[in-house]
Amino acid sequence: MVTRGPSSALMKELYRHCALYRIDWRKLFFAGAIMTIAGVMLQMFTLPYPLNMWFPSPPVTVSLDEPINGAMELISERVNESMVQQFQLVEAVPSVLLNSPVELNVSTPVEPERLAVPQTRKSVPRRRRKNIKVDTKSNDKTPPPPPVSHRLQRSIRSLKPNEALEYARKEIEHVPLVTDDAELYAPLFRNVSLFKRSYELMEMILKVYIYPDGTRPIFHHPHLRGIYASEGWFMKLMEENKQFVTKEPEKAHLFYLPYSARQLEMALYVPESHNLKPLSTYLRNYVKKIAAKYPFWNRSHGSDHFLVACHDWGPYTVNEHKELSKNTIKALCNADLSEGIFVHGKDVSLPETTIRTPRRPLRNVGGKRVSQRPILAFFAGNMHGRVRPTLLKHWRDKDDDMRIYGPLPVRVARKMSYIQHMKSSKYCICPMGYEVNSPRIIEAIYYECVPVIIADHFALPLSEVLDWNAFSVVVAEKDIPKLKEILLAIPFKRYLTMQINVKMVQKHFLWNPRAVRYDLFHMILHSIWFNRLNQIPIRQS
Ligand SMILES: *[C@@H]1O[C@H](CO)[C@@H](O)[C@H](O)[C@H]1NC(C)=O
Ligand SMILES: *[C@@H]1O[C@H](CO)[C@@H](O)[C@H](O)[C@H]1NC(C)=O
Ligand SMILES: *[C@@H]1O[C@H](CO)[C@@H](O)[C@H](O)[C@H]1NC(C)=O
Ligand SMILES: *[C@@H]1O[C@H](CO)[C@@H](O)[C@H](O)[C@H]1NC(C)=O
Repeated sequence: MVTRGPSSALMKELYRHCALYRIDWRKLFFAGAIMTIAGVMLQMFTLPYPLNMWFPSPPVTVSLDEPINGAMELISERVNESMVQQFQLVEAVPSVLLNSPVELNVSTPVEPERLAVPQTRKSVPRRRRKNIKVDTKSNDKTPPPPPVSHRLQRSIRSLKPNEALEYARKEIEHVPLVTDDAELYAPLFRNVSLFKRSYELMEMILKVYIYPDGTRPIFHHPHLRGIYASEGWFMKLMEENKQFVTKEPEKAHLFYLPYSARQLEMALYVPESHNLKPLSTYLRNYVKKIAAKYPFWNRSHGSDHFLVACHDWGPYTVNEHKELSKNTIKALCNADLSEGIFVHGKDVSLPETTIRTPRRPLRNVGGKRVSQRPILAFFAGNMHGRVRPTLLKHWRDKDDDMRIYGPLPVRVARKMSYIQHMKSSKYCICPMGYEVNSPRIIEAIYYECVPVIIADHFALPLSEVLDWNAFSVVVAEKDIPKLKEILLAIPFKRYLTMQINVKMVQKHFLWNPRAVRYDLFHMILHSIWFNRLNQIPIRQS
């Protein structure tokens, strides 16, 4: 035995003491006690328990070194330590960088940034890994109730922004199956498991840096009323957010260009000039300024930067800057796939909402029961764009079930308001205006009327995650003459399902005075995050 050597040496030493000095029994007893303790201490080195069970030691690396219990960890409901663990292991495997799914258009060719992981994390001493086992066992018995442990939070915070994004990208590949969730109604989503995981990872990881630069009112001045309110509400809620905003740009995963397309129009557009160049020049100069002042733009060529613009001209205000136009993530109400500016999978279709009373953005939300919706289909509005004249040509004053108007006539409005019409109709027709988008779509959802969208090439709002088939009807422009036929062909049961889904999806389209989980602010931010993750190359392990 290993312990023999030192033990017998100790005995000898004691004996030597006894021989040299006259010791009474009490002293001998004391010496015996010392010997026993020394023996026990020596034994400890041969036990399989970690030393830190007896000796306090800094717990720094503990959370990173828990052993993996196998593939089961991948299908855990909640985010827990094993996921960080999973990441650590994946990192250790030699990896191949694939092409990024979104190609960047760089004006100056630059070496693609290597998403390197610090060596220190890979080379963890084996001995320590073994020692941690006891700790894990006790953990397994009592899974921590909060969704995310502080330890995991700490581990994730210690990752560099690019590492954290890569971790998230990897995690999303291995989503646990969600069958039942109190807060999320699965039929509304293309893939509720994927959404839930991605959303949780956003909550855990995402940090946004808001450039303080830019003069008011074009920058930092949210406009909260009217049909372009979405860009204002997003700006307001983003700027006052505590959870996602960071003051340290080095820690940011996304950079927000806090301008308003609406304010840009009001400040710089010369009425009747039909010239948007002053607007896009202004924005180009802004981007040049921040690219010169900070290192972040050039680092990514703007691909981790985003803007949120609801005014119809949003997409046209980026034209003068190639990287801004090609690389930056744009959340746009005018999400027209046919113009080559909005790119599906990179840009985000921003829901257009009409806010009539900024102090009470949720006013009037709600609708009547299906049995109290006698009108089959309703539309009222101005004759903007190419679709509405066709709609009216075929359906105005043609059919009692089809209440299709131009601007709502006063004689009609006196009896029933626009909003009351929406609350009393089964289907609300949402034809595009000058541009593909229309605030009617979200309005219909607010008033629990199933939207019927007529706008070819329109990327539907938040369609990264939402399944619009579940709560809307999309009709091709060429099918306008068959509109009633198409609506009547939908079985009543299917209609009921869609109407329930409209009610369920409502909360994801609401501007709350203070943002709440899964509301419109968070859904937009999530879609931006989701598309940012799309840029991260998948590593092959
Ligand atoms: C992590 O998830 C796995 C898989 O579901 C589970 O067995 C384990 O108890 C979880 N650990 C913690 C600390 O929650
Ligand atoms: C990049 O820019 C060039 C020249 O302007 C253009 O031909 C090309 O299609 C662009 N590529 C992408 C992916 O946008
Ligand atoms: C959801 O996405 C995950 C990850 O891509 C995939 O494994 C899963 O099969 C998807 N679920 C459905 C119902 O499509
Ligand atoms: C970023 O690139 C532009 C154009 O190449 C250059 O003018 C600017 O100084 C660069 N910014 C920084 C911080 O180096």
